[in-house]
Order: sequence, then structure tokens, then C-alpha cells
Amino acid sequence: MSDNSTSDIKLTKGAPGATTVRDVTPIFRAERLVKRYGRVTAMNGANFELLPGEVLAVVGDNGAGKTTLIKALTGAVHPDSGTIWLDGEPVSFHSPQDARRRGIETVYQQLAVAPAMDIASNLFLGREMRRSGVLGAMRFLDRKAMRTEARNQLDALGIGTVQDITLPVESLSGGQRQAVAVARAAMFGSKVVVMDEPTAALGVRETGHVLDLIKRIANRGLPVVLISHDMPAVFEVADRIHVHRLGRRAGVIAPKDVTMSDVVSFITGAEEIPKESRDPDFVDPPLRA
Ligand SMILES: Nc1ncnc2c1ncn2[C@@H]1O[C@H](COP(=O)(O)OP(=O)(O)O)[C@@H](O)[C@H]1O
Ligand SMILES: [Mg+2]
Repeated sequence: MSDNSTSDIKLTKGAPGATTVRDVTPIFRAERLVKRYGRVTAMNGANFELLPGEVLAVVGDNGAGKTTLIKALTGAVHPDSGTIWLDGEPVSFHSPQDARRRGIETVYQQLAVAPAMDIASNLFLGREMRRSGVLGAMRFLDRKAMRTEARNQLDALGIGTVQDITLPVESLSGGQRQAVAVARAAMFGSKVVVMDEPTAALGVRETGHVLDLIKRIANRGLPVVLISHDMPAVFEVADRIHVHRLGRRAGVIAPKDVTMSDVVSFITGAEEIPKESRDPDFVDPPLRA
């Protein structure tokens, strides 16, 4: 998590594309993203900002458009309009692989692991280490190197509960599997790690492990975007909370300034987000497209 200076943020509006949070330059940013599916407007001018090293929670009701926003940011959905910047540079991802090549790793709601394969192989899925020389050219895998690296990474992330990395992933508990998926993202994400409801299927203890992992990743300087319904989890790990409503960002708040029930009210619209935290573009009710 980043220091406290990011938690009392104020959104200011400058030139188009220049929404700033005090003096901190966002590492990942989007402005006025729109995505329509026929008559359904899944994103209706969504803004987004992620600061270096922070954990940003994205919260909102079912159907608010959180997943669509995340898919647009990670190359799984191409927005109809709007702009995305990575490190200040406009980007347009054509696929999740494209976003991944730029350092954006995503852990989706459905676990993206291969159950029958061992843990080390899962960590390197699609990015296997090859032997050097002729054997490498013949696509021989360097299993020993992958196992050593997998062990180091799991240890560095504090995933000590995974004892034998040669075991198939299907032998792990749900929480351990999710830990492998999160570790994979942390290993290869060089800019941003994005997680859509990573604890939705987990018990209390397992959720605790994944939350610890998220904190560790952010402490290593890699910012994390966490979509979650779990308010205690959000309050435990988030530096800032992005409230998504009716297809757009309604505002960004600091957990220390509000209660969990305030956030629930902001999500449903029962309570207005304080003016200084409200998104300058948010109109409620939204403009009809
Ligand atoms: N592929 C799709 N086709 C049609 N409608 C979609 C599609 N994806 C999302 N939607 C619609 O867009 C809205 C936002 O969905 P989503 O982004 O999944 O919201 P959330 O993740 O906040 O629950 C919903 O009304 C949903 O039904
Ligand atoms: Mg969703």
C-alpha cells in the first residue's frame, strides 16, 4: 500500500485527459469510456485512475459495469469511445495478450488455472522457460529452473502453505488455487495487477491469505485494482475506493473518511458522495444515450 498522502485525494479537472490527483501522476488512466451492447450501455463515460503502488478497490452494484470497465482496461473489450493511458501514453489494446505484453496482468473471476497441471507449470503457463542452446531450440522446457523460480516466487509472496509445487493444482484448496493465480499475476505483471472478485468463492481464512497477498504485491510497488463486493476486504486493503454506478465512476473516496455503510449507500445512490470526492463527470440520473 502507498503512504497516507494518497488517501486524502481531491479530484481536479484540467484540460481533457488531464484529470490529476494532486501531484501524483496516475500510472493507468481512462477517460469517458463508452461500451454499448445493442441497447444496453455497459459503460457510459467511465473515468478511471490508478496511482503508483496503491490498492484501488472498485465497488458497485451488480450490472454497474465494473467488469466491462476492467475488460476494457485489460484488452478483453474494445471500448466504442474514450481514451486509455498507460504511463501517460495513449494505448489501445487489441487483446488480453496485448495488454499483458504491456505489463498488465489480470486475475479473472473464474479461475484461469489448468487443474491437472502442477503448480510450477501453472505459474509459467504460456510463458515457459526453455532450456538453453539446442534443447531450447527444440522447445525443451527447463523444468528445474521453473520449479526453482516458482518456489522463490511463492516464498517471496509468503505463500508458504503450498508445500509441494510438483503437485497438480487440483489437489489444492480453493484459496491456494487462487493464491497461485494471484502469484502468477504478480510474477509477470510489471505495471498493474487487476483482480475481478478474487475472493468471491473463498472462505474467511482463504480470503485473508489472498488479501495478504494483495498487500504484499502493492508493498513491492505494483499497484493493484481489486473489484470486490466484500466491504470488510475492501476496507482492509484499499488505499482508495472507486465507486462505480450506472456505467460510470461516481466518485473516489478514502476508506478512512467513510464507513462501510456510507459506501453501500454511495453504491445504491441512497446517499450522495461528498462533493470533493465526486467524479466531475458524474450526472445522476445519467444522461440517456
Ligand atoms: N457481452 C455482453 N453482452 C450484452 N450485455 C452485456 C455484456 N457484458 C455486459 N453486459 C451488460 O452490461 C451491464 C454491465 O455489466 P458488467 O460490466 O458485467 O457489470 P458488473 O460487473 O458491475 O456486474 C449489464 O447490464 C450487463 O448485462
Ligand atoms: Mg462483474
